[in-house]
Amino acid sequence: MNISTKYRKIKSDFELQPTSLLENLLVKEPEAVLRQLPITWAKAKDSTVSDDQGNQWIDMTSGIFVTNAGHANPAIKAAIKKQLDNDLLFSYNYPTTIRNRFLGKLLGLSPKCFSKAVILNSGSEAVDAAYKLIKQWGAKYRRKYIISFSGSYHGRGLSNDLIGGGKHKAAWAGIEDKNVIFLDFPYDGNASFPEADLPHPDEIAAFVLETFQGWGAWFYPRNYLDTLVKFARKAGSLICFDDLQGGFYRLGTLYGYQSYGIDFHPDILCLGKGMASSLPISAVLCDSGLSEIDPYADLHGTHSANPLSCAAALANLEFLSDRTFLDRLAGTCTTFERETIKLKRHSAITHINVRGMIAGIITRDKEMADKIVFSAVRRGVLPVWTHRNSIKLAPPLTIPEAALVEAITVISEAATEAEGK
Ligand SMILES: Cc1ncc(COP(=O)(O)O)c(C=O)c1O
Repeated sequence: MNISTKYRKIKSDFELQPTSLLENLLVKEPEAVLRQLPITWAKAKDSTVSDDQGNQWIDMTSGIFVTNAGHANPAIKAAIKKQLDNDLLFSYNYPTTIRNRFLGKLLGLSPKCFSKAVILNSGSEAVDAAYKLIKQWGAKYRRKYIISFSGSYHGRGLSNDLIGGGKHKAAWAGIEDKNVIFLDFPYDGNASFPEADLPHPDEIAAFVLETFQGWGAWFYPRNYLDTLVKFARKAGSLICFDDLQGGFYRLGTLYGYQSYGIDFHPDILCLGKGMASSLPISAVLCDSGLSEIDPYADLHGTHSANPLSCAAALANLEFLSDRTFLDRLAGTCTTFERETIKLKRHSAITHINVRGMIAGIITRDKEMADKIVFSAVRRGVLPVWTHRNSIKLAPPLTIPEAALVEAITVISEAATEAEGK
């Protein structure tokens, strides 16, 4: 297929096959790490990704919900370059001006209840730190239970597996945290909050929620979440949101939990991914009642708050929180939601979850999702391949509307092809 539009370029000899580069990497790295579409990333700019053979895709992944401000955003590049020229590429946990400026911006933008930020490198580390804070708080106030949700994803470490997925997610380690209780995720929009299944409210330390269930962008029914929040507040339990995917305007609001339109703030907020739209950095926001329980708690690491990451994150927050940008984003979200919903007409698609600039397209089965993804890639559009019966779309928030509409039209063509029509 030979494709050449303003945003897509696919040469007639392109094949969705492992490249020699991928085969070379597979010799050196575990297969589990490289279970991606076999596309070489040679360059990524704004909302396109190019390989080294002259092919170019409209990126509907933002990497993996990271480049909210667009790939290689000029303001972020300039900030990184400036920091490079300052000859401060690493600083461990010593005070630095760039760290202070970044924290000032992050906490300044955030609701006032978040007075402290723990800065780390990855989402898994952020959730791990949140787990620690919950446990320390729980020990102090004699509350032992953590309530989580089956099917959630909270990262790749042991503590992440203890509170994510389900009871047996950490079976590989031969342990489970008996004080973590998993509720079924409320996929049914009319599901009611199962108060009766919970331990005594006085014993609940925290509720831990992903802003939406990752694999298919399933949101909590609003009433369900509203009841959960009221219950937790009355019980005096903490609420922790893992907002890794939903943060930094992905859902139209600064933080994903705010998109529910419910008047509350979590006590603990885990952030990462779109925080710098580029370099690794993550954070846990909370107040001093949590962060200061143990002044010697290990809440930092060798590379946390790296000066280049702080510079990138500061520039990213300045870019994303600009009023003009946010006004434009509101229009882009409306277009994205409207165009994505139209995909419902395909018989291969059973359900669509969409909010802001994230969509989970649920297909009849995994094979159908694979077919649509592969066909879209051959046509110059890169969706998130979930390895399940879902396809996720999450373009950079900077994507031009014409590219957005073109990409969703291509997904529709891919669905028609997958349906064998
Ligand atoms: C909701 C959620 N929590 C935690 C993580 C882990 O983040 P990281 O891969 O940066 O460790 C992810 C990553 O996909 C995620 O989606």
